[in-house]
Amino acid sequence: MTLAEALNIADLRTLAQRRLPRMAFDYIDGGADDEVTLAANEARLRAHRLVWDVLVDIAAIDGRTRALGGDMRLPFFISPTAASRLFHTAGECAVARAAGRAGVAYSLSTMGSATIEDVAAATSGPKHFQVYVWKDRGLVREVLQRAKAAGFTSAILTVDVPVAGNRERDPRNSFTIPPQPSLSAALQVLARPAWLADLVRGPPIRPENFSALAATMTGGIMQFINDQFDRSVTWRDAAWMVEQWQGPFAIKGVATPTDARRCLEIGASAVWVSNHGGRQLDGAPATIDLLEPVVDAVRGDAEVIFDGGVRRGGDIVKALALGATACAIGRAYLWGLSAAGEAGVARALTILEQEFVRTMQLLGARTIKDLRRDMVRAPVFDAPIRP
Ligand SMILES: Cc1cc2nc3c(=O)[nH]c(=O)nc-3n(C[C@H](O)[C@H](O)[C@H](O)COP(=O)(O)O)c2cc1C
Repeated sequence: MTLAEALNIADLRTLAQRRLPRMAFDYIDGGADDEVTLAANEARLRAHRLVWDVLVDIAAIDGRTRALGGDMRLPFFISPTAASRLFHTAGECAVARAAGRAGVAYSLSTMGSATIEDVAAATSGPKHFQVYVWKDRGLVREVLQRAKAAGFTSAILTVDVPVAGNRERDPRNSFTIPPQPSLSAALQVLARPAWLADLVRGPPIRPENFSALAATMTGGIMQFINDQFDRSVTWRDAAWMVEQWQGPFAIKGVATPTDARRCLEIGASAVWVSNHGGRQLDGAPATIDLLEPVVDAVRGDAEVIFDGGVRRGGDIVKALALGATACAIGRAYLWGLSAAGEAGVARALTILEQEFVRTMQLLGARTIKDLRRDMVRAPVFDAPIRP
């Protein structure tokens, strides 16, 4: 299968698997513990059903929305993910370029392997910067200032990583960022010479926006997270960050209506329903099952961003119909990047756009405002197990 023959996101995943060594593929593909939440995100989203209106003029679909301080041509955008250069040497800048060309917003992870300034130069489209709360608050202030100066539209504070999740595929594959020499790692990597050639040509992979700190990194990225992220972070710190940023601000990783209202109380402009793609708390519900109560609690006072398990344009439509303002995509574009760099990301975005438009047409919805909750049938949740 060539890139042009990839018909859907699952095909891009297959191409990614062919090009990446197992450890890198599994780093994208995997989740925490038993991967119950990872599987639930996809399965529950898929299990929701769409019911359509007939005889609606759908000659021209308008997918525009506004979120995170920017006008969007399409209601989905790139979610922040760590260390993109691990999957393709072109890394974050290639993703940002492909997104910019497609009129899709980009989000850069704190753990990104490209600088804020390089990413800013790669796209003129809307871009967002994701942060964690580092122990060193000076560092937080500094990166926020840099992101603002470089023209990033909004800040995203990720709150579902009080500690790194337990991703068992990584130690099983002897995987670390940056890759450390070991026999098992060497065998996996040697089986993928194109990827290896790409990797050795590029500079070392590290959190590029914290290069001084990253230079002291000895135990790999998960250890780095556990060492450097502040575990005593509370709403007060989040409020401090909102104040620092002075602009559109999203809180990513919210699960409950109560926490959604708290986001508003501290001045966030967007509540982002996410379980980190099933990579953090295993046993968490699928995000599609968390969405409606959050939408109801927010009552239109803020945007609601949705992510987790989006693999088809129809998944985006379902989340929007349940009240999300926009959807973020993670693995869907990472598989494209891994398969073929910038062209692979472009292919992922085209696939999702075409599927989104076709689903809207088949549903009889011309604009996002035309989407209604009664167009989505939620499946009955798994019956509780009683003793
Ligand atoms: C490889 C990988 C790395 C990620 N790194 C980050 C990160 O650095 N910061 C963050 O807020 N979320 C991170 N995420 C979570 C995504 O932003 C997003 O919430 C998740 O991927 C959505 O689920 P999906 O992959 O099913 O679309 C990462 C996800 C993946 C797959």
